[in-house]
Amino acid sequence: MKLAVFASGSGSNFQAVADAASENRLEADIALLVCDKPDAHVVQRAEAMDIPVFSFRPKQYENKAAFEQEIVEQLQKKEVDLIVLAGYMRLVGDTLLTAFRERMINIHPSLLPAFPGLNAVEQAWEAGVKVTGVTVHEVDEGMDTGTILAQEAVAVKPTDSPASLSKAVQAVEHRLYPDTIQFLLKERFTQGGAMHK
Ligand code: GRF
Repeated sequence: MKLAVFASGSGSNFQAVADAASENRLEADIALLVCDKPDAHVVQRAEAMDIPVFSFRPKQYENKAAFEQEIVEQLQKKEVDLIVLAGYMRLVGDTLLTAFRERMINIHPSLLPAFPGLNAVEQAWEAGVKVTGVTVHEVDEGMDTGTILAQEAVAVKPTDSPASLSKAVQAVEHRLYPDTIQFLLKERFTQGGAMHK
């Protein structure tokens, strides 16, 4: 099973998925890291693990369809089965969605549908909720709106700060994402690499 991970930043979730794959807790290979910020730390993480990188600057393309078309070609060349978004800080457009519908997932640091969009942990903190968590979901046209595949709760402790809550949420992400991908591979991907519900 071949994955492409899309990321724009630090890449701690990329690292968690890559580690799980290299330790065979996840029966998949990361065939490509796709990164829209060539200077992001995640690129160094991929290079350190000899994982191929396609990095690009969106501004050098005419529009979203143009860079997504190039991404689709790269993914097809690598025979990618599943796209794993891990801190990819842009909305996916029609070109990618059409090519990989139901074969693209995302991780989000809240219990969706609560707190979609940016700074979800801070949003939860500001709202004063006592429980937040992590969601893995399919990607559709919306912002963090696709079908929910897995969720795990994280309690907000009286002693927490935004930083400690963030750390607790991240620790859950790093376990839940590889586990959910492994579950999907077993449950949904059968002959021919199609994803079945
Ligand atoms: C994670 O919190 C993920 O849920 C969100 O973006 C963040 C990426 O962090 N979509 P990292 O780059 O994986 O450390």
